[in-house]
Amino acid sequence: MRLMKPILPALTLGVTPAGAAVPGYTYGQPSVARAPYSLDDLAALQKVLLFGDDDIRALRQSAPILADQTDAILDVWYGFVASTPELLVFFGNARTGEPDAGYLAAVRQRFARWILDTAGAQYDQAWLDYQYEIGLRHSRIKKNRTDGVDSTAQVNFRYIPALTIPITTTLKPFLASKGASVADVENMHAAWVKSVLLQAILWSEPYVRDGAF
Ligand code: HEM
Repeated sequence: MRLMKPILPALTLGVTPAGAAVPGYTYGQPSVARAPYSLDDLAALQKVLLFGDDDIRALRQSAPILADQTDAILDVWYGFVASTPELLVFFGNARTGEPDAGYLAAVRQRFARWILDTAGAQYDQAWLDYQYEIGLRHSRIKKNRTDGVDSTAQVNFRYIPALTIPITTTLKPFLASKGASVADVENMHAAWVKSVLLQAILWSEPYVRDGAF
């Protein structure tokens, strides 16, 4: 499945489709550490998740459908976080507890890039390494550093796999909004669920005791 040709080469390396750099988005850059898990580990995980070439095709089919909807999608996702105090706290200032608007805005830009990278993922070493980086950024090892903010030390891990459900459930209407068949929408949605869960699992590594991942 890693033999498939990249379809979104212009959308990697931290540039937006319009070409502007996204602050802190370091996908593909030398500063990103090598993941402590291998491409073979990834293949094994994909196998157990029943994540195959059909899913990769379905994700890629979703790329042009979602490309001009990322802002609207993020309005919905951020709306969910903003209306869920248990989640909003992780964007709060460590002293006042008030949501940090600058932090929310900075992360939002990288989140938009992530939508396109998830749809066009090549599952190569650079992708794997950036998964590790995103995990670190949610954990106490690296949270807050990218944006230089003073917020909670970590995102508590239990919420990360849980957020898979609201993220993918609310994505479905966006997948359906451009005339794809009902079957195609179902396939794209199922592929998104698997991909987001796959990533949430990879992001767990910094939270898991040594040797237990
Ligand atoms: C399936 C679950 C999740 C997905 C897909 C997701 C996605 C993302 C992405 C793409 C980024 C930016 C990564 C980068 O810097 O390039 C990010 C950062 C962040 N996310 Fe999540 N996230 C998830 C779960 C959560 C949860 C449950 C919270 C709790 C509110 C959360 C809070 C944050 C915060 C605070 C950051 C900024 C971390 C930093 O300081 O660098 N995330 N997330």
